[in-house]
Amino acid sequence: MSAKKNVDLLVGAQWGDEGKGKVVDMLGSDVDVFVRFQGGANAGHTVITDGQKTVFHLLPSGMLYPGKLCVLGNGLVLDPEQFLAETGELFAKGQDRARLAVSPHAHVVMPYHKMLDKLQEEARGKGRKIGTTGRGIGPCYVDKYSRSGLRVEDLIDADILRERLTYILDEKNQIITRLYNQKPLAFDEIYEPARKWGEALAPYVDDTRALLRRAADEGKHILLEGAQAALLDIDHGTYPYVTSSSTSAAGAFTGTGLAPNDLTRVIAVVKAYTTRVGEGPFPTEDFTEMGEKLRANGGEFGATTGRPRRCGWLDVPALRYSMELNGANVIALTKLDVLTGMGGIKVCTAYEKDGTRFTSWPTDTRTLSEIQPVYETLPGWDDDITNCKSFDELPANAQAYVKYIESALNVPVALIGVGADRNQTINRGM
Ligand code: IMP
Repeated sequence: MSAKKNVDLLVGAQWGDEGKGKVVDMLGSDVDVFVRFQGGANAGHTVITDGQKTVFHLLPSGMLYPGKLCVLGNGLVLDPEQFLAETGELFAKGQDRARLAVSPHAHVVMPYHKMLDKLQEEARGKGRKIGTTGRGIGPCYVDKYSRSGLRVEDLIDADILRERLTYILDEKNQIITRLYNQKPLAFDEIYEPARKWGEALAPYVDDTRALLRRAADEGKHILLEGAQAALLDIDHGTYPYVTSSSTSAAGAFTGTGLAPNDLTRVIAVVKAYTTRVGEGPFPTEDFTEMGEKLRANGGEFGATTGRPRRCGWLDVPALRYSMELNGANVIALTKLDVLTGMGGIKVCTAYEKDGTRFTSWPTDTRTLSEIQPVYETLPGWDDDITNCKSFDELPANAQAYVKYIESALNVPVALIGVGADRNQTINRGM
């Protein structure tokens, strides 16, 4: 008989940048194993502890906790340069090396993936760009699914690497030269660094599926840390303006080898308003000075690219869709303090198109870009909430806003972020 399972999955509920890194870090003291399972260095998880800011793009946000195990699962696309930069920085600060495990089956983001990501974006031209992070994510997942990818294990075996890369690079060079009129990449310029990355990665490689299986069966507290968010999901998001991985709950299983019945809880991270980076429909985007105020108050600039984020209001139908998709049990509500002093708080409860009103999230991208949001305005608050330690200390209107969200989504809000620091969090039973 195995012990009682204790596996939490944390997912973004909007278009990313909900503040997942902070929530992971906040829950961290109680967690034994932190796992990333999809996406790659396109993520930007910001963690602030004792006023010190750390941004993780690839490593799990739990890396700041000494002695815990951090896992990069098979579903991730691993950028070795980013991996070495992030681990190097942490180890320079004296972190313990033994606690990181990398799946041999994670696909490797190669230099030609990043190159093709940028060339494809340029070629798409105005009006068709996706606004990718340029981290090679899409082209790497394309190679994974077309079975032309290199996995971490391929980098470690110099003979296999040489054999596979010879064929793969030949194909890439055809595309690079014939389709994009660029100079071909020289074999040794790709092979030599890749071989060295393999050497550097080798000490971390482990059978992460088996390792997670054991940890789950022993009742260890595992936190599966989603990157990006439901509305950027390759299947269920606002396609084609999405990322190339399964960002909602289902991705956690293919991306780790854990099974659906291992999961004990799904934590959906919801920002108290909405933001989006890159192109694509965003019904509640605010183009007035209110949107600018949200951006300024919330520091809404991309952690990976530095791009200003598009800002707007909470979208209830979008969030209901996201809760359903993820089977969310609890919500971690972040950045409530950003709404302080905003006057009335707008919440989208329905949409209108051609005189028809409806309350469900439209899943075709064209309709999404044509609908008009229908807003309800809730009373705001002016008192600083950044030092509030309990729900009761929040101004009545802030409490009412939280309760409104719970009732609209039918999911309890168990954690409330009232500031950037780990400690600026109200725990209501997470
Ligand atoms: P890609 O993941 O770089 O291919 O970018 C595809 C889309 O996902 C673009 O709109 C990006 O801005 C968006 N995206 C990717 N990663 C993140 C993230 O961590 N936060 C927010 N948006 C993201």
